[in-house]
Amino acid sequence: MTDDLAARFRSAMLDCPVVGWRRRETPAETFAALARASAELGLDRWDGYGAGGPVERLEAEVAALLGKPAAVFFVSGGMAQQAALRTWCDRRGSTRVALPDLSHQLRHEQDGPRLLQGFRFEWLTQGREAPTAEHVRALPTGLGAVQVELPLREAGCLLPSWDELVGVSQACRDLGVPLHFDGARLWEAQPYWDRPLAEIAGLADSVYVSFYKGLGGLAGAAVVAEADVADELRLWRTRMGGTLYRMTPYAVGALVGLRDRLPEMAAVAGWARDLAAALVGRGLRVTPDPPHTATFQVAAEVEPDLVTERLIELMAREGVLPCFPFSASADVPGFAFTEVAVHEEALRHDPEVVAGWFAELVAPRRAPRGDAASAQPT
Ligand SMILES: Cc1ncc(COP(=O)(O)O)c(C=O)c1O
Repeated sequence: MTDDLAARFRSAMLDCPVVGWRRRETPAETFAALARASAELGLDRWDGYGAGGPVERLEAEVAALLGKPAAVFFVSGGMAQQAALRTWCDRRGSTRVALPDLSHQLRHEQDGPRLLQGFRFEWLTQGREAPTAEHVRALPTGLGAVQVELPLREAGCLLPSWDELVGVSQACRDLGVPLHFDGARLWEAQPYWDRPLAEIAGLADSVYVSFYKGLGGLAGAAVVAEADVADELRLWRTRMGGTLYRMTPYAVGALVGLRDRLPEMAAVAGWARDLAAALVGRGLRVTPDPPHTATFQVAAEVEPDLVTERLIELMAREGVLPCFPFSASADVPGFAFTEVAVHEEALRHDPEVVAGWFAELVAPRRAPRGDAASAQPT
């Protein structure tokens, strides 16, 4: 993308009321909403270095929802997962962690977990594969931990079936290897299995969840585990500089997300499935098909820059940015793809109408005027 196109896209986005299926708010609007929510929720104390106040309330709520004895709040998922995996690896006397080659740590964290914690990573799965017991049993013994990403974001938010997940859990228990879930989008994944969150979390020894993706908070994460594990997580949080003097703003955002967004997850996932079906009906490719969560990938034979030009027009016309710009596919020459992450704001729109917008975005380039006439036989 040229600098000019990128600048025009950014500027259109700043004027667009709905970006990525979420209403854009100014900081003042967000802080005002958090202030109102603090009063509604009776939050009249601050935390001090993560103790007390809304942070303690959030930790108790998350531990109860996920059915584990304790939860520890972190300001980022990256830090939360380094702490969790480090705790398991120290206990096991092994730095080897098996995870998907598409996992967030390996794709988006500048190699931090390996450089900072000394982990040695091995592939649990490769590419667009869901993990199974066979994947776990095929690994060399002596692992520090196994990590499953639920859903696997880089594969279009792919999930294992319930039986596959139970199989992974059983295989880890048989081998005595701690199982950690990267549940950045576990709230969004729950409707797929239609099982209580606590039953899902019960399959793992530690589970990380995020507060700013589906839940729409400011930032932040938690890890749930047994109390002795949680104590070690707090030590690692402090060692990594993550026990901030005040973490209340993030905790309030998370509590609001649990109150307002969590109950809508199944409806949002249902809307995403309806959109995906309408897209397939119009010839676009959807992965996974049907989607497992409210986030999925869409691919089409189209030039990415042409789509970006059309996204700028669409934002001006409809006031909605339904997806971010497409990228050229590394797998299929000529094809481009994007991620569609559906949030609450989508529920105000008809998925058929939105599918029509996508069809416009990926339509073949119109021939310049006059070409059709010159193509006529003389
Ligand atoms: C699957 C997954 N894991 C971990 C993270 C890290 O979360 P954070 O941005 O809070 O560090 C992300 C963030 O996008 C994610 O998508």
